[in-house]
Formats: sequence, C-alpha cells, structure tokens
Amino acid sequence: MALLEVNNLNVRFPTEDGVVHAVRNVSFTVDRGEVLGVVGESGSGKSVTNLAMMGLLPRSTRIDGSIKYDGAELVGLPRKRQTKYRGNELGMIFQDPMTSLNPVYTVGWQIAEAVRAHQDVPRKAAKQRAVELLELVGIPQASKRVDSYPHEFSGGMRQRVMIAMSMANNPQVLIADEPTTALDVTVQAQILETLIDIQQRTNIAIILITHDLGVVAGMADRVLVMYAGAAVEVGTVDEIFYRPRMPYTIGLLGAIPSEASDGQKLRQIKGATPSLIQMKPGCAFSSRCPLAFDRCLTETPVLEATDDEGHLAACHLRNELDPVSVRALFSPELITEVGA
Ligand SMILES: Nc1ncnc2c1ncn2[C@@H]1O[C@H](COP(=O)(O)OP(=O)(O)O)[C@@H](O)[C@H]1O
Ligand SMILES: [Mg+2]
Repeated sequence: MALLEVNNLNVRFPTEDGVVHAVRNVSFTVDRGEVLGVVGESGSGKSVTNLAMMGLLPRSTRIDGSIKYDGAELVGLPRKRQTKYRGNELGMIFQDPMTSLNPVYTVGWQIAEAVRAHQDVPRKAAKQRAVELLELVGIPQASKRVDSYPHEFSGGMRQRVMIAMSMANNPQVLIADEPTTALDVTVQAQILETLIDIQQRTNIAIILITHDLGVVAGMADRVLVMYAGAAVEVGTVDEIFYRPRMPYTIGLLGAIPSEASDGQKLRQIKGATPSLIQMKPGCAFSSRCPLAFDRCLTETPVLEATDDEGHLAACHLRNELDPVSVRALFSPELITEVGA
C-alpha cells in the first residue's frame, strides 16, 4: 500500500462567475521515502491538489474523491480530525517564508509552538527540540539563533526555519510548493541541498512542486505532470524525460535529463489554458497540441497505462508518439521560457 493514495480527486470553487473546476479526477500515489516532482504551468492545479491533502482549502470548497493517508480517508473528515494529520503526518512549506512566520515572536518560540500543537511536552523540551530542528536544517549556531526574530534572518534562512517548523512533528510526507521560487539562485541551491539532506537522513516522502527542470531531474524519483487541473502523465524521471507519452509533457520539458541543468525552467507553450469554469468535451490540450485530430476534440483522454509498466499518460496517441519528432513540432517560436 502506498503511503498516500489520491483517487479521482475533484476540487470545485463556487465563484460569482461560476464553479471553477480546479482539480479534475486526479489520481496518483506517493510511496514512503519517495520524492515526487510535480510540474505544470501556472494555474494547472498543483497547489490546490496539495492544499486539499493538507485540509487547507476554504470551507466553501467542494471536494470529492479520495485522499488516503496510510489507509485512512482524509476527504470528508471534520476539520478537527484533519488537524491530527496536518503538521503531524503531513507537513507543508510554501513559496514565501515571510508570510508564514509571525514577526512578533522568535523563531524558536514559533517552532516550539508547532511542536506543542501535537505533542504534550514542557516548554523547555519543546525549545530544545526547536534547536535540534534548526540544526537539522543547517542553521549555524542554532542554540543562539533560536532566540532571533524572523526579520533578523535572510530569506534563505527564513525558508530553513519554515522547513524546521514543518518537520517539528516528524511528518512522513513533506509538501514543498515551489519552496525556492522567491529566493536568489545561489540560495535556492542551498535550500534544495538541505531538502535532499533531510530526505536522506529521515527517509521522509517529499512532494516537490517546481518550475526547475534540473531539480526534477536531480531530486525526483517520479514525476506528475498536471495540465488544466488534470494529471496528464505520471512516470519515473527517466520515463518522463526520455520516453514522454503526452505532447504537453514534451512541449513543457523540451529537454532530456543530461541537458537539464539546475535553474533551467519549464517552457511555455504558445496558447492559453482553457477556462476551468465550462470545460468543453475532448482533450483540454487539443487547442495547443500539434498532433490533435478529430477524436481529441470529442473524447476526453483519461490517464491510462502506457506500454511501460507504471507509466501513465492521458493521450489517445500515448503508445504511438515518437518524442523526438514531436519535440521538433514544438518549434522554438511556439515556446518561450517560463520566467517564474
Ligand atoms: N480559492 C479559490 N477560488 C477560486 N479559484 C481558485 C481558488 N484557488 C485557486 N483557484 C483556481 O484554481 C486553479 C488552480 O490553481 P493552483 O492550484 O493555484 O495552480 P498552480 O498549478 O499554479 O499551483 C487556478 O485557475 C486558480 O485560479
Ligand atoms: Mg501553485
């Protein structure tokens, strides 16, 4: 049994303009100790999928389908029961560490509170744990820095504090939602090193949402590709880079792992994502796909097995695609680099 099993997850936001169907029938799994990379252009539902797992979406959100953590169903749990998992079994770090830290408390106090939210330990022990956690994430002179305030830390150090806080209760899964996007390039590399180090020392599973191809190639075991709220391809890093089975993946990655260097961004394919309010039938990528044919406009492809075991793709042509010739169809003028 996988540690996390997401099955036919749907997330809908009622808005004044209509119901936004932000996550559509998404299914995937995460094993213990595995690093799952999640890629897809902005608005493809990466954050919403993960916020649903954390139980952090607004109350008005309509969620159906199944999210199982270690066999226990999380969808439909009362809020109070959700907090048992959030921060305890599942931790999450976000893009901007400043918005998640409270400026008026020391970082040590905030980490200690995160410890005490789930563990009945005295303040002193919680603070000692905060020092250990700051050491774990590579903050020098942790026993002194524990008494500093967030503004006394650099952006990179604040993100380390956030990682420390998310690790406070030894979660089994860490969700990192573009954790380095707001940071300088050199600091980005350090934060990712820290994540790799923690992953190897604790064998935690990590869901890593990123725009960085080098990071996916270097860190992930498997990759989930999302488009317009749907999971459109899942496979090992090698399968996704060398034998992609969905034209969107080919356009987005545009590189093979040996060419993918750190800092190299996903590419942006010409055209726009369809509206998530009234989805047309057929493949959501068809209007931008160089291979689209009649069937793609009428029949929505579902995520299905390819001829590689465990490698799934949502494309009618998944077993016939030649990645090299499809890559050539995404001519450079159809692609620009995503700046994010
Ligand atoms: N609270 C909300 N209300 C309405 N729409 C939302 C809300 N949160 C996210 N969305 C929409 O859901 C879609 C997916 O968003 P998101 O998961 O944040 O994308 P990304 O892949 O960039 O992380 C987007 O179209 C976004 O505008
Ligand atoms: Mg996001």
